[in-house]
Amino acid sequence: MEFSGFFWTKTIFLLLKVAQAIASCDLEIKLANGKVTETSSWYGGDYIEFECDRGYIMQGKSWHLGSGNILKRFCAKTGCEDFEKPENGKISTVPGGLKAVITCDEEFILSGNSVTYCNGSQWILPLGTCQVQNHTGDYSCDFEREDLCGWTASKAIPQPWQRIRAAADFQKKNCLRQDHTFQSDVQGHFIRLQSHVHAFRTYHFMSPILPKNLTSGNSLRFQFQLYMFGTGVKNLTVSVKPGSMPAEDMWKTFRANSTKLIVSGNQGANWQSHSIHISEMDTDFQVVFTCADPSSLGGDIGIDDVKFINERV
Ligand SMILES: *[C@@H]1O[C@H](CO)[C@@H](O)[C@H](O)[C@H]1NC(C)=O
Ligand SMILES: *[C@@H]1O[C@H](CO)[C@@H](O)[C@H](O)[C@H]1NC(C)=O
Ligand SMILES: *[C@@H]1O[C@H](CO)[C@@H](O)[C@H](O)[C@H]1NC(C)=O
Ligand SMILES: *[C@@H]1O[C@H](CO)[C@@H](O)[C@H](O)[C@H]1NC(C)=O
Ligand SMILES: *[C@@H]1O[C@H](CO)[C@@H](O)[C@H](O)[C@H]1NC(C)=O
Repeated sequence: MEFSGFFWTKTIFLLLKVAQAIASCDLEIKLANGKVTETSSWYGGDYIEFECDRGYIMQGKSWHLGSGNILKRFCAKTGCEDFEKPENGKISTVPGGLKAVITCDEEFILSGNSVTYCNGSQWILPLGTCQVQNHTGDYSCDFEREDLCGWTASKAIPQPWQRIRAAADFQKKNCLRQDHTFQSDVQGHFIRLQSHVHAFRTYHFMSPILPKNLTSGNSLRFQFQLYMFGTGVKNLTVSVKPGSMPAEDMWKTFRANSTKLIVSGNQGANWQSHSIHISEMDTDFQVVFTCADPSSLGGDIGIDDVKFINERV
């Protein structure tokens, strides 16, 4: 009896050690001008208390319970300079200068953060800008714009393809927390394939429909930044299809001639540049990222900074 008790203690200890090794990206949550108390609970969730130093006012709830996303909190204090009126939008400072919010005029699209907080002397997050609705000629996208430059996910509930704002959430459980463009905790957006227990289908993330003349001269390259890390990441497929063909048909029937690249498995814990050649198309076309069965995704898949490059120039 004595021995078996010892055995089980030892086994549980070893299991805990393994679990710790896998969760090596676990983040220590910090709060500037405040204090964070983390307590782990039996059911695997977190209990976190946030408290601001004297003179600062908490922006957000003072506690977090459970295993879901942990929104970032800020300790705010007045004392920041007013913003000048931005082009094509307005900035309202509420209440009394703790927080500023940018809203864009109709027909303009926000690019970057919509909210920032004052820490007593400076605004903590850079505030976004208002941009014209229609895409610029080069079809590149850093996913800072709220309209994702026309990129869309195929309809699904739950939707695993999500736009992530680095400044929104602590991303405690993910190794991937920062985008490729800014690599910062206070700004930047990217696309993440979120794991979800019920997401066992095939999910597509698609470019807008692009004009066929982009491919004329047979010299178009599509470049993207990919973060693909973890023991459980499977295949990410990049395809090119005619604009009028549904992504589901492409995947079921024309996968062989549409697939341009398959990235398989763990690529390391950093952003890496990948590209495909797009040969001359006789119709308008789309680029498609596809991932099958992210229900047990043991890791991170992120996409950022997509570009269409004409190699002739
Ligand atoms: C306020 O934010 C600025 C910019 O991040 C930083 O340099 C400064 O130290 C902060 N001040 C306080 C009191 O936290
Ligand atoms: C943007 O495109 C839409 C249709 O796609 C068009 O109706 C609108 O006039 C365009 N706006 C500008 C500012 O070019
Ligand atoms: C492609 O066609 C559009 C008009 O449909 C034109 O504005 C653009 O300059 C053309 N681009 C190239 C690379 O030929
Ligand atoms: C992943 O892609 C490889 C080719 O790179 C293929 O052999 C394999 O069957 C694919 N796995 C799945 C689960 O589709
Ligand atoms: C693949 O083949 C189908 C049927 O012939 C065709 O409609 C489609 O354009 C092809 N896809 C590409 C990327 O060429």
